[in-house]
Amino acid sequence: MRFQGLVAVASAIATVSACGGEEHSCYGPLKDDVVLTRNVRRMQPEASNATTGPRAPLEWGQINFLHTTDTHGWLEGHIKEQNYGADWGDFVSFTRHMKQKARKLGVDLLLVDTGDLHDGAGLSDATSPNGLVSNPIFENVDYDLLTIGNHELYVTEIAYETFSNFSKVYGDKYLTSNVQIKNPTSGQFEYIGAQYRYFTTERGLNIMAFGVLFDFTGNSNVSKVIKAADMVKEQWFLDAVNYKDPIDLFVLTGHNPVRFNESSSSFDTVFSAIRSQRPDVPIQGFGGHTHIRDFAVWDNKATALESGRYCETLGWLAMSGLECSAKKVKKNPKGVPNPTRSAVPLRSTSTANSTAAIPTSTTPSTLRYARRYLDWNRLTFAYHAKGSQALSAFGTPKGAAVSTSITNARTALNLTKLYGCAPATYCQYCQPFGAPGNIFTLLQTALSTVVVNETRKTVPRLIIINTGSVRFDLAQGPFTYDDSFIVSPFSDSFQFIPDVPYAQAKQVLDILNAGPYQKKKRDLESRDFAFSALTADRDTCIDPPLTHNLAAKRSLPAGRLIRRTNTSPTPGYTTLDDFGSDGDDTIHSTIPHYPQPNDLQANASFPLDGSAPEKVDLVFLDFIASYIVNALNRKDVGGDFSLSQVEYYIDKKFTTNSYLPAYAKVAWQENLEDCPVGEGIGFAQ
Ligand SMILES: *[C@@H]1O[C@H](CO)[C@@H](O)[C@H](O)[C@H]1NC(C)=O
Ligand SMILES: *[C@@H]1O[C@H](CO)[C@@H](O)[C@H](O)[C@H]1NC(C)=O
Ligand SMILES: *[C@@H]1O[C@H](CO)[C@@H](O)[C@H](O)[C@H]1NC(C)=O
Ligand SMILES: *[C@@H]1O[C@H](CO)[C@@H](O)[C@H](O)[C@H]1NC(C)=O
Ligand SMILES: *[C@@H]1O[C@H](CO)[C@@H](O)[C@H](O)[C@H]1NC(C)=O
Ligand SMILES: *[C@@H]1O[C@H](CO)[C@@H](O)[C@H](O)[C@H]1NC(C)=O
Ligand SMILES: *[C@@H]1O[C@H](CO)[C@@H](O)[C@H](O)[C@H]1NC(C)=O
Ligand SMILES: *[C@@H]1O[C@H](CO)[C@@H](O)[C@H](O)[C@H]1NC(C)=O
Ligand SMILES: [Zn+2]
Ligand SMILES: [Zn+2]
Repeated sequence: MRFQGLVAVASAIATVSACGGEEHSCYGPLKDDVVLTRNVRRMQPEASNATTGPRAPLEWGQINFLHTTDTHGWLEGHIKEQNYGADWGDFVSFTRHMKQKARKLGVDLLLVDTGDLHDGAGLSDATSPNGLVSNPIFENVDYDLLTIGNHELYVTEIAYETFSNFSKVYGDKYLTSNVQIKNPTSGQFEYIGAQYRYFTTERGLNIMAFGVLFDFTGNSNVSKVIKAADMVKEQWFLDAVNYKDPIDLFVLTGHNPVRFNESSSSFDTVFSAIRSQRPDVPIQGFGGHTHIRDFAVWDNKATALESGRYCETLGWLAMSGLECSAKKVKKNPKGVPNPTRSAVPLRSTSTANSTAAIPTSTTPSTLRYARRYLDWNRLTFAYHAKGSQALSAFGTPKGAAVSTSITNARTALNLTKLYGCAPATYCQYCQPFGAPGNIFTLLQTALSTVVVNETRKTVPRLIIINTGSVRFDLAQGPFTYDDSFIVSPFSDSFQFIPDVPYAQAKQVLDILNAGPYQKKKRDLESRDFAFSALTADRDTCIDPPLTHNLAAKRSLPAGRLIRRTNTSPTPGYTTLDDFGSDGDDTIHSTIPHYPQPNDLQANASFPLDGSAPEKVDLVFLDFIASYIVNALNRKDVGGDFSLSQVEYYIDKKFTTNSYLPAYAKVAWQENLEDCPVGEGIGFAQ
């Protein structure tokens, strides 16, 4: 573990300001570039507690799994959302309690992660390369199986960090069945982790595990992603499927959507390859990448779980009825609920077009399953960790140390640096476009306020940005350097064409919104690789890839705006999967999900009398310049512009990552001393 080293490094630069025992007034007076922190308690000090807990105890089977995926650097938890306030230290404590509980019950518990460890929050993204500080914190969980995500491969330095450091910590538990990297020492391509893991559990189950990344093509050229269709023909794979020793269960992990009809998934290919050789051996899948809660039934002896994103969800899977030679295994542990559901494939949804092509197990099954999506908060963790119902008794020394190391790292990285106090929560999807609580409405105001060229400040201007430049909602409360990564991390600059006839300029927005979503070409040469990984998101593989394909979303982090009482559920996940609608561990109301346009437009310095200006400065993000020129030059618009007329509107270094902090410094200077935190995304305000 690299944990000790990190604490030393972090505390060496930490400047935790003593702010007494007061819970309030811990943000000192706001001064530029002064790091402000608050008093330290468990979870992250500022995090809020959940108010509603799990609906019922978990079902425990013969073998059980805890599954994380797409954590994307959110190891501090969601500091301004009550449903997801636990941090990685709490998770460390929870896994320890659950392992103990499994031993007491005489059953197996395996911990699984399916990749995408950074690009999402300041803890991972404020370092170069991303993940330098967050990966060693992540490594405090003793996972049994892990696999690689596409975000480990965009940037060469990150790929090498994963290869040289991360994969070495986990050894043969880190599975990259189809991902290789050029070893800088030998010049040869090698697997980053192991191709497979054959092992026997504590209770004697024989498991063959794989880790298969979807057919990703956006990787930097030091790595190689072998297509699943090719991988399944390789001799090592065929040998592993037909292993010389007994296999009681295949565990197919992968940064890969669990639903076969999802076009980016290659699980169907791998499943078919295993099933055609081993028609009756149970297969358990664990997937990711699409950032949703989902559970798919592949056949009567195969199911797969996907456990959301961003440390919002912890997946639980319990299975009983496995045939195995070992006598140590209890088929159904006593004193706890047990799994009861058979896997009944829904052919139309799981396998869509490929029904005929995909082989399935046809003999009867004795397997019984349960799946659950846990909200990532301490109330949930303490509830399920037996003997730790009191929150105060829940933390283990190691968990507490990890929480402290996160606090120290956040301080050292200046993540708690305060820009302002956001007076409300602004979401991307929970409010209609144009509504006051919609983030894009806020951005219009922010853009007109701070995207100003002093020498042209009186010239009327239109400012167009791509809504994909926003990554996450902006929650009510302190707006910090950390939030600048969470909400608008990309480093796109503002360019413009001066003096465009307003009659032409005003048509551009509708043209862009009627056209295709604008993807950014990735810039692999970028020195600033802390950001280049993120801009890569808007290449062919948008991650989450379904952001602009709303119809395909199965489960939304979403709720009706309600006034909360003691009995009414809080807004949150409401998931429908192949087992129905009872998968969410805490019952929530649904958060609405409204479609949003590709682009939005702000304006400033328009004539006060409401008349139309003759000409405007047309300002836009650098990577949509060609779309803008093309729109202006359409026949029906009548422009005659070229890219050579495009110049920077303001300093190139003032980017999409800069304007919200700049706006906060201007507009959100009230209540800095005691900035009220909201309940979270989707809650009534
Ligand atoms: C959360 O709950 C714990 C235990 O009950 C308590 O000590 C802590 O102060 C609470 N935190 C907040 C922010 O209310
Ligand atoms: C591995 O981790 C060490 C210590 O954190 C760091 O100095 C080194 O740069 C990392 N190696 C790579 C290849 O990133
Ligand atoms: C990757 O591309 C870079 C820049 O084009 C080149 O210098 C390097 O040799 C390439 N590396 C590999 C492993 O092909
Ligand atoms: C896949 O199946 C789900 C579940 O029935 C369905 O909602 C979705 O539209 C399908 N997706 C595609 C791409 O066919
Ligand atoms: C269904 O599969 C067939 C053969 O694999 C393919 O030609 C066809 O395009 C597919 N249809 C759809 C709607 O994907
Ligand atoms: C944090 O901010 C301080 C004060 O502005 C600065 O000296 C230090 O270099 C910053 N640290 C990092 C890691 O950015
Ligand atoms: C300018 O922006 C404001 C605020 O978004 C909006 O109400 C108004 O209609 C816009 N005016 C023009 C001419 O686009
Ligand atoms: C503002 O616009 C003028 C005129 O186009 C340009 O010369 C100047 O560089 C711009 N200012 C900044 C800070 O980019
Ligand atoms: Zn992801
Ligand atoms: Zn991904």
